[in-house]
Amino acid sequence: MSNTLTAAAPTTQTDFLPLEGTDYVEFYVGNAKQAAHFYKTAFGFQSLAYAGPETGVKDRASYAIRQNKLTFVLTTPLRAGNPIADHIYKHGDGVKVLALRVQDATKAWQETTSRGGKSYMEPTRLTDESGEVVLSGIHTYGDTVHVFVERKNYTGAFMPGFKEWKTVYNPTDTGLQYVDHCVGNVGWNQMNKWVGFYEEVLGFRNILSFDDNDISTEYSALMSKVMSNGNGFVKFPINEPAEGRKKSQVEEYLEFYDGEGCQHVALATNNIVETVTTLRDRGVEFLKVPTTYYDDLLDRVGHIDEDLEPLKELGILVDRDDEGYLLQIFTRPVEDRPTLFFEIIQRKGAKSFGKGNFKALFEAIEREQELRGNL
Ligand code: FE2
Repeated sequence: MSNTLTAAAPTTQTDFLPLEGTDYVEFYVGNAKQAAHFYKTAFGFQSLAYAGPETGVKDRASYAIRQNKLTFVLTTPLRAGNPIADHIYKHGDGVKVLALRVQDATKAWQETTSRGGKSYMEPTRLTDESGEVVLSGIHTYGDTVHVFVERKNYTGAFMPGFKEWKTVYNPTDTGLQYVDHCVGNVGWNQMNKWVGFYEEVLGFRNILSFDDNDISTEYSALMSKVMSNGNGFVKFPINEPAEGRKKSQVEEYLEFYDGEGCQHVALATNNIVETVTTLRDRGVEFLKVPTTYYDDLLDRVGHIDEDLEPLKELGILVDRDDEGYLLQIFTRPVEDRPTLFFEIIQRKGAKSFGKGNFKALFEAIEREQELRGNL
């Protein structure tokens, strides 16, 4: 407990990079058509827009899917020997773009690149009959990038280059609402570099820190710092492996992703029991903690509104901080490499990240690492 550092109160200086939230998360995948089907069927996303040869985009196919304020884009290359194909060859399926909504993508690019951000995309104006979208972008950890999206003058389904994607098959949603946070795994001794990057280039603050005394099991450890933008709409925790008796889960990720990258995307729901029941019934696989986790749960977290039985049956974890509590659960990796997974989270006042669950959770991850022979 004493090792958790909480940031000082925010300063009043003006935010040079005002963000309105996550615009979309783009995944580079081996087969976008099938991935879109998986996220619709299993996670409850709806068909939104498509880009590909039929819409004038010759090198790739992209499916945009949506659920409430969540937008995913699944992109696959149509040929070998290009950056998208190379990304998939190296990393497997994974997150390429964490796109952030801004009022002015040109200014966002100028502010960040003038502070040392490495340009990924100069401000680019895309237009069609529904108006214009301006995109720009910078690199972050690994091969991951941030794209700034200005869409205030656009009324189409997603963005120019895409056409509305209408399907006969439209499974119901699962109550997922928006991106709560996206976690990056970085290499040994690289966390402070990336904390500095988010502070200096994007104007974020470090709001929470966990060291290896907070996050360690009998076998392995990791360190984590949570970076937040000024209004708190965008939060990027950053993990670094720490020395332990055996291989840290972050090391396993770095080995199989072949570098730094996005470890998990946390998706918010207003009713975690209903959402997780539906996800489970549709084939999403979750990490399980031992049922003994629930024996003294209420002693640890006090009164909660939910019945204990469904939480126990589904494996949902609970943690409390000064402001309230949160419920969370983690999926298994959603590809064959032990890399990207999802968190489902419901916040009831708590603004933290489930520190009280770290030990139980990491022990659950290690049981799976052990089965893969990677512990
Ligand atoms: Fe998380």
